This record gives sequence, C-alpha cells and structure tokens, in this order.
Amino acid sequence: MKGSMICRRRGPLQGAFEVPGDKSVSHRALLFSALATSPSKVRGLLAAEDVGATRRAVEALGAVVRDEGAFVVVEPPERLSEPQDVVDCGNSGTSLRLLCGVLAAVPGLSVLTGDASLRRRPVRRVLDPLRRMGAVLHARDGDRLPPVVVRGAPLRGTRHVLEVASAQVKSALLLAGLFADGPTTVEEPHLSRDHTERMLRGMGVSLAVDGLAVTVTPGRPRGGTVEVPGDISSAAFLLCAAAALPGSRVTARNVGLNPSRTGLLDVLQAMGARVRIEPRADEGEPRGDVTVEAAPLSGTVIEGALVPRLIDELPVVMVMATQARGRTVIRDARELRVKESDRLASMGEALAAAGAKVELFEDGCAIDGPTPLGPVAVRTRLDHRVAMSMAVAQLFADGGEVHLDDVACVATSFPSFFDVLDRLCGGGR
Ligand code: S3P
Repeated sequence: MKGSMICRRRGPLQGAFEVPGDKSVSHRALLFSALATSPSKVRGLLAAEDVGATRRAVEALGAVVRDEGAFVVVEPPERLSEPQDVVDCGNSGTSLRLLCGVLAAVPGLSVLTGDASLRRRPVRRVLDPLRRMGAVLHARDGDRLPPVVVRGAPLRGTRHVLEVASAQVKSALLLAGLFADGPTTVEEPHLSRDHTERMLRGMGVSLAVDGLAVTVTPGRPRGGTVEVPGDISSAAFLLCAAAALPGSRVTARNVGLNPSRTGLLDVLQAMGARVRIEPRADEGEPRGDVTVEAAPLSGTVIEGALVPRLIDELPVVMVMATQARGRTVIRDARELRVKESDRLASMGEALAAAGAKVELFEDGCAIDGPTPLGPVAVRTRLDHRVAMSMAVAQLFADGGEVHLDDVACVATSFPSFFDVLDRLCGGGR
C-alpha cells in the first residue's frame, strides 16, 4: 500500500464488517503489560504500524513479546532497562507521550523520536507536568518538539490540573505516578478517553475517579488477559459513509463502545442517520455491534464535552457534513491542529478543493451542505485519517476521481481499510 492511489468507487455501502483492534487499547495493553509483575495475554491486538512502534519500544526496554495463535503474549522484565538505541515511535503520538511518563522513572538515558509528522507535534504538554514530579526531560526547539531526551529520576506524587482534555497527557502522568513516592492526581477540563484508568484498574492498580479527577496510588500492575475490541475510530469511516450515501446499510461488528469514545454515534443520531446499537457482554471494555442506515442528514453543532469523545472522527464527520442539509458547526476542537497533521487545514483545504463550502476557525469549522463533491488531488500529509476521510469523500463525487498522493499512512491504524471499503461497495473501485 505504498505511494499514490486513485479512488473511483461507487456506493451504496452494504454489508457487515469487522475492524482491526482498537489502537488506543492496543498501545496500553502492550505498555502496561511490560510494566507488570507477571505475564499477560492480549487478544485482538491491532496489527498496524503505530502499535508496532510500541511493541518495539517495550522490547527495547526488556519485555519479550510473542505471537501465540490469537494472542500476543507479553513477558515483562524484572525492571525496565535503559534502551540501547534511540526509540523510534514512527507516526505514533500515543507511543511517544505515554513512554515519556514511563521512561521518566527508568534509570539511565532514553531518547524518543518519530517520523516527520510526529516531530512536528507538541511535547511540552507532557514535559512540563512531568518536570513538576521531578522528571528530567528535554526536547528540541525550546522543549517544544521531539526528539525527547529523558533521564530517569525519582518522582514525586503530584496533583495536576490540565488545560486541555488529553488522554495521552493524562496517561503519561498516571504512568509516571505508578513510580512516584505518593499518589498522583490528574484533573482534566472534560473527560478524555479513559482506557488507561479502566485497564490499570483491571490489572490491580489502585485508582480512584472523582468526577474529572483521577488519582493513582504507586504500584505495579499485575499481568492478566486483555481483550481488545474493534476500533470505533476505524469503523467511523464506513459508518459515516453509509449514513450519507443513499441506499446504504452497514453493520460494524464487535466495536468498542466505551462512552468516552462514542461521541460519533450521538452525532450520527443528531444528524438524522438511523443507528442501532447492540451491546455485547463486556470483556474489559464495553463493545457491541453498530448498524447505520442512510437517511437524509441535517447539520448539527459539535462542541464542548462532546469533542474529546469523537476527536479522531472529526475529519470524516467533516466529509459527512458536506452531504447534510444546513450548517454543521464544529467548535472547541483546536486539538485537531496538532494531530498527525493540522486536520482543520488538511481537511478544510481538501474539501474546499472538492467543492465543499467550508469556513475554518482557529478551533473548528462550519460546513454548509449539501454540496456535490468533485474530483480532487489530495495531499495526505502522513495523516492516515485524512487519507481515509478523503477516500470516503470520493464516494460523494458522483463518479469523479480522488487522487491521494500517499496512502502508505493508512497502515498506521487500518491496513485493510481499502479492502473493506471495496467489499462494502460491492467489489468495485
Ligand atoms: C489517544 C488520545 C487522543 C487521540 C489519539 C489517541 C490515546 O489524543 O486523538 O489518536 O490513545 O490516548 P489526546 O491525547 O488529544 O486525547
């Protein structure tokens, strides 16, 4: 899946599909298992480049990771050890930021870097609060950007009040808190995804949640079995396409339904799509089957506490909004500017070039629809979600083609995306 691609599929989308394992849960399963006092088994781990970066990182720290049939087995070392080389996190912000929290307590020197996209993403948001715990970290460009250099040090339990809701920052601090000399509290302005809290608790760590504040007591997790649900953020591309393409009906099977991740389902319903949610028995994370059927869509407002619950889905929501009647407004989403690319700029430009009516704000956008989309050439900018969103946009181009300059980035989270899309479209491009 290297290089450029010309998309020329036609809908509607029909059928059931499964998506690969949840990316956020997969990173955590590997990393927390590597910190544990006994081995773990992980089922459904995402086999994609981002999680590969975390796998190589925990191996560099002394864990042994093995594939065993449907499971990935993680044998943690007695103690994590100084990596012998620079740790390359590739495109993965989650790997780099969570590792900052862990490495802050690992004796010795560690260096974390990544690809051109990751080296443009801010790290001060983790460095500053970790330093308040006694951590020793430095970064390039006045402490703003990776690479990050970490020297392990004794850590102090600390109370943090975050300015942005960020699961990566929250998780880095809670992980550092496992090694601190007393409890660590992280309070955020809105709830970001809470996979860390759930998984650490499931692994026996003492963790208290009080509203938007989480307090962790130092201690190592114990190993166990982690069941990874399908990634609702991957399913989102196909669910949004189906919602807006007349005649479509698709079912995503066994996707994660953690309420801190299901903002998209609320938005689909608010816009008028027909959504059926059938929960399955919980195995750690809530999960179930989601069916979406096309219906005439209307614009909606997405802001405030809803935003962290669908932050990664906003690029494809922008595509869907071009097909909805009236105005869709997205606010409070400044974080989109510091994802794998500046997603407001990437998506705003690509959709406008395809004929959409998009107005960009510093913290969001307004999209007026419905507008037919036309052929367009897209720069995917090392951003998997931009590539997949614009492949979905092509379905609304009425036979027109969308040229994606580089689709290798799709392997970051959803290597089988184009195959699944082809199948739901009836096999045609
Ligand atoms: C992630 C958290 C989110 C999300 C990212 C994955 C995680 O970022 O955008 O794709 O696994 O913790 P924030 O740190 O902004 O919440």
